[in-house]
Amino acid sequence: HAPLPTAQRLAVDPYAGCVAAAQRATQVTIAIAAREIESAIDAMTDKAAPRDCTASAAAAAPSHGVMIGTRDDPAIAALGLPLAKAGDEGFVIRSIERDGRKLIVVAANRPVGVLYGAFALLRELQTGTAIDALDVTEQPKVDLRLLNHWDNLDRTVERGYSGQSIWDWWKLPDVNDPRYTDYARANASIGINGAVLNNVNAKPDSMTAPWIAKAAAVADVLRPYGIKVYLSARWSTPVELKQTTTADPLDPAVAAWWKAKADEIYAAIPDFGGFLVKANSEGQPGPQDYKRTHAEGANMLAAAVKPHGGIVMWRAFVYSEADPDDRAKQAYADFKPLDGKFADNVIVQVKNGAIDFQPREPFHPMFGTMPKTPLMMEFQITKEYLGFATHLAYLAPMYEEVLDADTFAKGKGSTVAEVIDGSLEGHKLNGMAGVANIGSDRNWSGSIFDQANWYAFGRLAWDHQLSSDAIAREWAKQTFTPDPAFVQPVTAMMMGSRETVVDYMTPMGLAHLMATGHHYGPGPWVSDLARPEWNPVYYHRADKDGIGFDRTASGSNAVAQYMPQVARGFASRRSVDDKDLLWFHHVGWDEKMKSGRTLWAELLHRYDRGVAGVGDMQARWATLKPFVDAPRFEEVTRFLAIQQREAIWWRDASIAYFASVSGRALPTGVQPPA
Ligand code: GCU
Repeated sequence: HAPLPTAQRLAVDPYAGCVAAAQRATQVTIAIAAREIESAIDAMTDKAAPRDCTASAAAAAPSHGVMIGTRDDPAIAALGLPLAKAGDEGFVIRSIERDGRKLIVVAANRPVGVLYGAFALLRELQTGTAIDALDVTEQPKVDLRLLNHWDNLDRTVERGYSGQSIWDWWKLPDVNDPRYTDYARANASIGINGAVLNNVNAKPDSMTAPWIAKAAAVADVLRPYGIKVYLSARWSTPVELKQTTTADPLDPAVAAWWKAKADEIYAAIPDFGGFLVKANSEGQPGPQDYKRTHAEGANMLAAAVKPHGGIVMWRAFVYSEADPDDRAKQAYADFKPLDGKFADNVIVQVKNGAIDFQPREPFHPMFGTMPKTPLMMEFQITKEYLGFATHLAYLAPMYEEVLDADTFAKGKGSTVAEVIDGSLEGHKLNGMAGVANIGSDRNWSGSIFDQANWYAFGRLAWDHQLSSDAIAREWAKQTFTPDPAFVQPVTAMMMGSRETVVDYMTPMGLAHLMATGHHYGPGPWVSDLARPEWNPVYYHRADKDGIGFDRTASGSNAVAQYMPQVARGFASRRSVDDKDLLWFHHVGWDEKMKSGRTLWAELLHRYDRGVAGVGDMQARWATLKPFVDAPRFEEVTRFLAIQQREAIWWRDASIAYFASVSGRALPTGVQPPA
């Protein structure tokens, strides 16, 4: 926490001192919350060293103070706050006057709510809410708010662009890196309450005793912060560990092995959250290898964790060679017939789009069409397809676009957000997962602006009604300065950034055009990969006449997987939005767009707009130098220069390729790549 601007600092200053927290001695989470407030207010008001409040908790400042606790604290209970509205994890923050003292109260039903409330209070103070008028009651809209780490046991991170895994497996369980605590603090400050520690492409070792002990050590650090640990499980683990001869979910020996394994894990981690499973996807083993369904597989694992209160998050990101027709249709085709067949502690985890974390995809057709199955959202925070850590792309507008999309499941206004928070169909299990962008880089996320994506994910998991704009503002104020002369332009820069990336990489509904394997840079010409659906040409289908994937009735008919109103909207050339056009339609190069331009001219226009957008970000950032410390300013400046160069690369390579396919002349200024 940086010192506040003078006016704010003067208002906060009288509240510096020891927080009154009667439960400090008995509740570790309350003690943490109290210390967070004390040290943050010290930092915001530029006090020297944080004082030791443990022995003198009640000795708060005479005229002003902060008081925190749960409803079990009589002093809190006596205040008659609306704690019924705070639920299990929420909180109430109020400025009150009592016996001539000005008090800020943070109250909750459970200690973790007090911790969330403490961080919310600090957010209010840092973003400039008037301190004597605080009146906030909140509870999260979604229950499972999870990070998925794609962290391997050798500390590499799949699709990670911020250094090694923060989990130092080699030294665990004996040594707990202090970063685990900071990780827990950062996550608790935005309400994240679960972490899947290992990659979905899991190894059997993660289920062995040494690794369970390591996970248990991490769980011990995260627990006081309200964060549960989960593990990704590899389907064939018992076979690979030579414990069983098959991984057939209906074989009693397999079920018994997993049950014993779950018992072993829960003995080490009593509040273990459960398993995340990637099965029969991209070559991973799964129940279909034994002619069993995803539901039969998920339910077997679910039975193993059920006695302990655990859950199974079963991923719907499946596609296989067997069905080359349209990869976008596969998850729905596999899962729709299983609707209603999953055990009550299974939740199916669905990516935001049917292909794979593209800069833009229409929402996944499973949302709204699987009423009997709880579905959780899987967003990608790490920017696998959006330029890794060096391209600036604030992802909250993308998350928001998907969450706000209307599935029409129960008529107009049945948003994806209402599907995943469980309210549309009344599902008790509900959640949102984000594939983490966290690593051991000093800035945690590979770039300072990528921290905003972690932050925004957590804030939207807590409250999907928050606007991406408001979240950007909050983040900018807390990360740099609350000065409006900074916050306004930086927010504008962030808000436009994702659309800029869409423009120079995959405009108008194009997707999956990235270079092979690493997915960095353009590769729309690639056509020689072993599986048809790995090749960019499979997705754009450009030829001399036109471009785009016909997913209407005359093509793969993927539109039919949506509710009829949605399907009609996407299928009609009149109603489909230009931003999704080539996702659903194969369009002639010379056809007229809504802008009046031909498709070819419109594409050129958008690629150019993308390049110009990066130029605008550079120009804007340059003006913000007075507000930013030199190292961060310099790093962002250099990253934007990379982005500028590579936006041009994307544009020129894409246009040159499409020009060659369509037999058009290269527009002036476009340099075909060497
Ligand atoms: C993408 C990504 C893989 C990842 C997969 C998944 O395809 O490139 O690295 O394993 O998604 O989500 O399972």
